[in-house]
Amino acid sequence: MPRVLVVDDQQSIREFLEVLLTRAGHQVATADSLKAYLAAQAASRADLVLTDFRLGVDSGMDVLAHARSLPAPPEVILFTAYGTPASAVEAMRRGAYDYITKPFDNDELLLLIERALEKARLREENRALRANLLPRTSALLGASKAMAGVWAIVDKVAAGRSTVLISGESGVGKEVVARAIHARGLRPTAPFVAVNCGALAEGVLESELFGHVKGSFTGATTDREGILVSAGLGTVLLDEIGEIPQSMQVKLLRVLQERKVKPVGSSRDVPFEARVLAATNRRLEDEVKAGRFREDLLFRLNVITIEVPPLRERREDIVPMAQAFLSRVSEELGRPSLQFAPETLALLERYAYSGNVRQLQNIVERAATLSDSDLLEPMTLPPAVRGEPVGLPAAAVTATVGPGFSLNRALDELERALLLDALKQADGMKARAAQLLGLTFRSFRYRLAKHGLGENE
Ligand SMILES: Nc1ncnc2c1ncn2[C@@H]1O[C@H](COP(=O)(O)OP(=O)(O)OP(=O)(O)O)[C@@H](O)[C@H]1O
Ligand SMILES: [Mg+2]
Repeated sequence: MPRVLVVDDQQSIREFLEVLLTRAGHQVATADSLKAYLAAQAASRADLVLTDFRLGVDSGMDVLAHARSLPAPPEVILFTAYGTPASAVEAMRRGAYDYITKPFDNDELLLLIERALEKARLREENRALRANLLPRTSALLGASKAMAGVWAIVDKVAAGRSTVLISGESGVGKEVVARAIHARGLRPTAPFVAVNCGALAEGVLESELFGHVKGSFTGATTDREGILVSAGLGTVLLDEIGEIPQSMQVKLLRVLQERKVKPVGSSRDVPFEARVLAATNRRLEDEVKAGRFREDLLFRLNVITIEVPPLRERREDIVPMAQAFLSRVSEELGRPSLQFAPETLALLERYAYSGNVRQLQNIVERAATLSDSDLLEPMTLPPAVRGEPVGLPAAAVTATVGPGFSLNRALDELERALLLDALKQADGMKARAAQLLGLTFRSFRYRLAKHGLGENE
């Protein structure tokens, strides 16, 4: 239902319009001053604002200016007193949809409102279509088969309101996926807010998400709306959800079930409408098993789960992404003719990115910044990407044949050093280390055991 916000300092006018517009099928809120208008807009965005030109000490022009400055500006209609055409013209010039002179004819006003809302609706639709179109046509987002699966789920869930859990290694693009869900949703122009749950102390997280009332703790000098409420019809991404402390998990579960928050220090529940998404680079099932994450909260969050595959499992994405990152950075650097040498691309394509897309992006930026020539040679890549040995123990590489030498022992030492190095590069993840070494997981595990580097190492 379209939301209309009526701003007038005269109570009788507010009441009259509230009845008139509600009967006409609109959802109506009212405000009697600029301050009340700002609060009402913060609580829920209007599609149309009707404001009197004179608001006691305030001016309807300030309401207009604020409304037009919003990322998705509502249409604004002003009421002007008889005989002030100059101000009306000025309002139109500053982006008002139209004005109407008081006292107005009801039918004329309703017609004007219908037209303004129609315009707002078309504009919103247009924006939604654009948002839909953009990510799909951008090569940046990853056109591999593995990612096509991800985008298909994104499309399916975008129009709904259900909670979605996005999981995947660090840097795979979980936030990119969350933003895509938002951009393809029904309210692409409403706010998208990402909250890093791992970075905030427990009390801070609670007041950020749920809000607080004045005096509820030192420093709380005014009431403050929480993000879940202030995001309006937008989307809130609870990032690093695996990091939130147990007591907060209980509160969050209740909040998600009831779709209401209790601001810190308040006894009153405040409903919210924002869509909630969550992201994690931990496997929450494991966290549940280890007793660190509540199973009921996991069930509540993973109604729909999107697994973003690591970059090394979708190598077709590497070259197009590298090219897209390069064209972006070359624009920033003002060096439009930067390009990859073919060997450089081949190396990039082969590398097992433990830091995923973020790492690829950093590598490309580094290469572009370091290179003196417009052709990015392999030299501009970090040694690990060039496939050079990284920090092998001297004994293993400098072994020479002589008295007491044993080839088997030297090879064993080399093997052990390479296994350790691979584990280090893979941040201890065995499957990835095996891949780095070009071994099957079984064979890798067998070799680890042989060197006493098995389970408990
Ligand atoms: N499909 C993609 N298209 C374009 N850029 C991408 C894509 N995926 C990731 N990126 C870029 O890689 C970087 C990391 O992405 P993002 O922040 O979404 O990852 P993440 O999974 O949330 O990482 P973390 O677990 O560290 O929070 C960002 O700079 C992002 O723009
Ligand atoms: Mg992230």
